[in-house]
Amino acid sequence: TKLTALTVAMSVSAGAAFAACDPGETVIKFSHVTNTDKHPKGIAASLLEQRINDEMNGKACMEVFPNSTLYNDDKVLEALLQGDIHLAAPSLSKFEKFTKKFRIFDLPFLFKNIEAVDAFQTSDAGQELLDSMQRRGLQGLTFWHNGMKQMSANIPLVTPADAEGLKFRVMSSDVLVAQMEAIGGSPQKMAFSEVYGALQQGVVDGQENVWSNIYGKKFFEVQDGITETNHGIIDYLVVTSVDWLDRLDADVRDQFLTILNEVTNTRNSESYAVNQKNRQAIIDAGGEIRTLTDEERQTWVAAMQPVWEQFSSDIGQDAIEAAVQINA
Ligand code: LMR
Repeated sequence: TKLTALTVAMSVSAGAAFAACDPGETVIKFSHVTNTDKHPKGIAASLLEQRINDEMNGKACMEVFPNSTLYNDDKVLEALLQGDIHLAAPSLSKFEKFTKKFRIFDLPFLFKNIEAVDAFQTSDAGQELLDSMQRRGLQGLTFWHNGMKQMSANIPLVTPADAEGLKFRVMSSDVLVAQMEAIGGSPQKMAFSEVYGALQQGVVDGQENVWSNIYGKKFFEVQDGITETNHGIIDYLVVTSVDWLDRLDADVRDQFLTILNEVTNTRNSESYAVNQKNRQAIIDAGGEIRTLTDEERQTWVAAMQPVWEQFSSDIGQDAIEAAVQINA
């Protein structure tokens, strides 16, 4: 649907729940948790929405609900299975209830950059992950990139010893719990929408995230500083329900998937640049960023990397070795 003031007014007065859609159009509701305009996922979601609504007018319409306004990531996959929404893009750390195979993406210091993540995802082992939750009703469509994670706390972090005894927010992943325990921290799983408040009120002392989230949700304002560890990654699975995808008309499905793949290619190649802009925005806003010497960074590697061992049987030693090769 092309929105005009008149159609919005008419839909609102008619009490339509979904103002952007015309009768007969396939409705695609997309719920996610980040902001929209300066974030790799937010920008990609907005571009997808715009292209679907322009190019599939009369056949399909999309409405994006960003910033956890509809669901947080703990609820979004259930909502997808119930058909309340049709598309989501949670981080790969949030699929633990559905598969343990995604744990590979959370292993600290495995992927050196997003190009390596991309190379792994496009390998056979990576592409198989898209179909790995079909029996649970979820269909992965493609991966969207974000970037490397950094550490922050309410005191300066230079070596892992500084993290001893601190409470850290983590995404809902047991690998990340183990990683924070490995540096002597006490990890707490928490929804993204609650992190700012928890840091501000001292419910937790620190967190790990990408520049676009640390700036986008202003975590840097309630932390002592950000330590540039690049110790892990945040990347996303664009996911739908097997049922919904099966029931789409073939031409609608094809066009939708074609547009999704084009948006993926356009935006994935920009994720690094988007994060660097967010990093700079933190500096411009007076935030403190601490860079590490090679020696200092090595102390984080030594403390965190033993975690691989704990999860190698869940993930599969073959997959870990394939990822190591890609990073060599
Ligand atoms: C987080 O929970 O920190 C991230 O997964 C949020 C996101 O979607 O980038």
